[in-house]
Amino acid sequence: MNYKIPRGTYDILPSQSHDWHKIISAFRQLAAACGYEEITTPVFEQAQLFERSSGETSDVVKKEMYRFTDQKGREFALRPEGTAPVARSYLENRLDIGAAHSKLYYVGPMFRYDRPQAGRYRQFYQYGIEFIGSDHPYFDAEVISILWNYLSVLGIKRMRLELNSVGCPECSKAYDQALQDYFRPHLNELCPDCQIRHSQKPRRLLDCKVKTCKQIAQGAPSQLDYLDEPCKVHFASVQDYLARMNIPFVINPRIVRGLDYYTNTAFEVIYEGLGAQNSLAGGGRYNGLLEQIGGKNIPAIGFAGGFERLLLALREEQIDLGARPVADAYLITMGPAAQQLALPLLSQLRLGGIWVEYDPTKNSFKAQLKAANNCQARFALIIGEDEAAAGKALLKDLQSGEQRLLELDAANQFIEAFKRN
Ligand code: HAM
Repeated sequence: MNYKIPRGTYDILPSQSHDWHKIISAFRQLAAACGYEEITTPVFEQAQLFERSSGETSDVVKKEMYRFTDQKGREFALRPEGTAPVARSYLENRLDIGAAHSKLYYVGPMFRYDRPQAGRYRQFYQYGIEFIGSDHPYFDAEVISILWNYLSVLGIKRMRLELNSVGCPECSKAYDQALQDYFRPHLNELCPDCQIRHSQKPRRLLDCKVKTCKQIAQGAPSQLDYLDEPCKVHFASVQDYLARMNIPFVINPRIVRGLDYYTNTAFEVIYEGLGAQNSLAGGGRYNGLLEQIGGKNIPAIGFAGGFERLLLALREEQIDLGARPVADAYLITMGPAAQQLALPLLSQLRLGGIWVEYDPTKNSFKAQLKAANNCQARFALIIGEDEAAAGKALLKDLQSGEQRLLELDAANQFIEAFKRN
């Protein structure tokens, strides 16, 4: 074969799909129970949307965006994340009209050109929540609690919720200044990337993986000492709500999010067993983003997590998502008359939601029964020559050996029989 899957991508094979369905539907169920509705946006958007929101100096925009120009010379990008597209859709579709706020969730592929490694892919799948329309701290806690409860309900235990406040743009300015002052005497010792970060985005100096930069960063001032009074009150209130919701958290003033749009609350769920890519999910407030992309000053908060890392964590904790489903029944027919009678029943059962396997290339009874056992079907539905003549079918429980005859034209009886088991 001449073709290979692109580096950093993977196929979800049939044997793995069951686990994916489970974790996706658990997310949908919980989000719906919290009153969030699904929103689906295209996988590509105007490149500028991300430059404006994620920040032109962020790695996501600078190094990782899959950009392309279409036939008419327009600049697009495969979405590296879901928040800016949801904000764009919220504004474009006027979701603000008639509702105090919008509670939205999404599930879908994102694209980042990065060096692939365990838990890091070039196409990966995110689940996410965006709450748009209020800056009340209760909603910070609500959004965070959905993430925590989702991971908990799946059985993840060795995780840690880290919480920070990056303040409003005013406190950010003061903090950036303090960071620049702190790092200035060390400028020559910093890596070339950090020398640029120092003037462009000082906060990212705290996130560098280079040993010397890391050592210097250890003594850097804390964001929390630069919060103004309203930001302090907001942060305290978020913590208070989380405590009342029984969501455990630790404060980490060093959380630096990879995207630039965050204001006030920022958080991550860390899972140590994941190696270098230990952020299971993350998010925060982005009160300025909607205005930045042309809307009104509308506050918002959200999070996203990658399903791949979630599956790795589930595996790490040996959490079983249940066995791959098997067929309800295997249809066995002997001779053309039996087949003629069986095919309408087969359709009706399938329409009734019963998974029935059938393979007319197997002629002998023995071969068909073997196939039924191989696919682990619970029942064999047997229409031999005698049954066909009597207008009946034999339903045989392949586990207990119990069997009974049912009228062929009473598909409902079969459906009932399957549903009871
Ligand atoms: P993010 O921290 O860039 O935030 O990504 C969120 C999560 O997506 C990460 O914690 C990780 O689980 C997963 N992830 C990111 N990059 C990759 C990758 N290359 N391969 C596999 N998984 C990955 C955001 O995307 C924000 N939009 C979150 C948000 C929503 N903030 C507010 N609302």
